[in-house]
Amino acid sequence: MTGSGPYEAVVFDLDGVICHTDHYHYLGWKSVADDLGVPFDETVNNRLRGVSRMESLEIMLEPYEGEPLSDDRKLELATIKNDRYRVMLGDMSPADLDPSVRTTLDDLRARGLRLAIGSSSKNAKYILERIGLGGYFDAISDGTNISRSKPDPEVFLKAAEYLGIDPAKCVVVEDAVAGIDAGEAAGMYTVSIGDAADQGAGDAKLGTFADLSKVLTDLGA
Ligand code: BG6
Ligand code: MG
Repeated sequence: MTGSGPYEAVVFDLDGVICHTDHYHYLGWKSVADDLGVPFDETVNNRLRGVSRMESLEIMLEPYEGEPLSDDRKLELATIKNDRYRVMLGDMSPADLDPSVRTTLDDLRARGLRLAIGSSSKNAKYILERIGLGGYFDAISDGTNISRSKPDPEVFLKAAEYLGIDPAKCVVVEDAVAGIDAGEAAGMYTVSIGDAADQGAGDAKLGTFADLSKVLTDLGA
């Protein structure tokens, strides 16, 4: 088990944990893959969880058999995906925040825990604004302040640094196996949900986000 408690902070991944933008990532990459005639499904999409936009592109392109793509063309494809993804984000509103997520976050905050975001996404702050959580978190570490994406621990170590809290006093909540690996590498207690929980990763596993309250109670937080 990683982390040592008593726990003082919870660092949340965003896409696939706080909200379901992981599905919009899927739709964005699927549309670009379809344009290229490249097969792409949920199994491939699960490999994109937690990894950066350009690394995601390389994974999506693994089955590609056409003319070699220049770096400029790859950047263009990633931009096309992001533009389509941002259109979907633009349709999000506070109604896209599950009430049980908000209730659980408020419960943790009422216990005196500090709450942070640790996301590989460069769209994280925009998403938080869309779903009504702009300004809610005590710290945000995202794709704009890291040079290495998960499973590297950088994004979570930065979150702990921004909070001013020892990483060993932090709990991470993640839907990506790469994110659980990153949390472990940061020396944090790891909690999985969604795909990462399905794959058996993490010190504790959630069936639903609301189960997090009990996990933290069991940890004495
Ligand atoms: C992560 C997602 O949160 O952000 C990845 O799990 C995604 O799938 C990464 O590639 C980067 O996102 P963005 O919004 O910067 O393209
Ligand atoms: Mg995620």
